[in-house]
Amino acid sequence: MPATVVNRIASTLGATDHPYMTGAWTPNFEEYDATDLEVTGEIPRDIDGVYIRNTENPVHAPIGLYHPFDGDGMIHAMAFQDGKASYRNRFVRTKGFAAEQAAGEALWAGIAEHPSRSKRPGWGAHGGIKDSSSTDVVVHAGQILSTFYQCGEGYRLDPLTLDDKGTEAWVPAKGVSAHPKVDPATGELLFFNYSKTAPYMHYGVVSADNRLTHYTPIPLPGPRLPHDMAFTRRFSIFADLPLFWDPELLPKGLHAAGFHRDLPSRFAIVPRYGQAEDIRWFEARPCYVLHWMNAYEEGDEVVLDGYFQEDPEPPALEGWPRKLGQMMAYLDEHSMKPRLYRWRFNLKTGAVSEGPLDDRILEFGSFNQQVAGEKGRYLYSTTAKPGWFLFTGLVKHDLETGRSTSLEFGPNRFGSEAPFAPRVGAKAEDDGYLASFVTDLDADLSECLLIDAQDIAAGPVCRIRLPHRISSGTHATWAPREALKPAQAAP
Ligand SMILES: [Fe+2]
Repeated sequence: MPATVVNRIASTLGATDHPYMTGAWTPNFEEYDATDLEVTGEIPRDIDGVYIRNTENPVHAPIGLYHPFDGDGMIHAMAFQDGKASYRNRFVRTKGFAAEQAAGEALWAGIAEHPSRSKRPGWGAHGGIKDSSSTDVVVHAGQILSTFYQCGEGYRLDPLTLDDKGTEAWVPAKGVSAHPKVDPATGELLFFNYSKTAPYMHYGVVSADNRLTHYTPIPLPGPRLPHDMAFTRRFSIFADLPLFWDPELLPKGLHAAGFHRDLPSRFAIVPRYGQAEDIRWFEARPCYVLHWMNAYEEGDEVVLDGYFQEDPEPPALEGWPRKLGQMMAYLDEHSMKPRLYRWRFNLKTGAVSEGPLDDRILEFGSFNQQVAGEKGRYLYSTTAKPGWFLFTGLVKHDLETGRSTSLEFGPNRFGSEAPFAPRVGAKAEDDGYLASFVTDLDADLSECLLIDAQDIAAGPVCRIRLPHRISSGTHATWAPREALKPAQAAP
């Protein structure tokens, strides 16, 4: 079977010159099933599982200024087995997507507009926007869980067919944020949400067989904008960072984020099944962090890696209308300057030590999930094009030797977050592949790269051409074959 268009979504988008609706961000409206794809090199026989990426695809002409995180979620999946690959892509059938398809127009204004411009009540912490489920994707209990950064529904899809499995029943009324974490050792899903009402944050645990087994407040001093969480074998880690919506403007419906250099960053370390009274709080240098990497316990300390932003409130990019330039600065890593950084929290003394691991501007990283929550040796980060939310290459860090290696995708070629896929029968932490969807603007195509994680500078071991050029997007995940089994009841 060659590539088959299984569905073509009705769009009212029309012509646009918006920088995040054109070029590498040109949205897709066609849904494909494809096998027998053109391969350069050879697909290894020792990779078995699915590479899955979420992307933003605006279907309708926006109400006011479009922000790329408003776009409707679309999942792209490349499944590997026995040296063969097959590709599928599907929109996430969110409630907002269905309502706008029925209406034939956009019903919700986006994050860059006043919520009064939305035609219907919205979702999540913001409350006035559409839950487009376009931010993050994980596989838990044998199914895809697609999530939205402002907290929303948990949408389930079959990881191989991408069939719509509806919304997840355990998601609390305040929703689930992007970046729930799957603990590979237990199969549990750890998640959080945040809101404008006290206690402002909650933390939950869902079992490997998909039952909500824990849900507890993480009380904060006010509404905050956490984006990610981390975990170790015994603890979950949440942050109260001094970047948040101006509380004086919120009653007017204005969601203006400000960074407060006079406030510390606060970290909550809570036992996996702990309650609010079990939280240990630590204070560190003021910062904002979009994404954490791994965390682990070492002696009396909890060690956490992440990307420390030097300038969480950057000036508008020049050369664009002011409001657009401001939005583009918040999408530009070279404006916010995130760097790989490490915090150490001493549970015995309460002491905190912190500092950078690298001076390059890096973000959107990955590591071998088999060492999630434990001390690992290798981290993989992406580099970005200055001025743009586009990934230009990869950097691998060996934390034991301090060495790093890198790979550039090439001119006008932009990749995706590149999760680590362990080789079947792997003998080392970095024995496996990094997978990335790369869009080549000059050749007008997209392809899936597999890169040998032990030698990323050598370039891809194979390139699998997709049946269409796909839009850029946000997060991706790797699900090994054994993670695709349906949820099993606990013994
Ligand atoms: Fe994220």
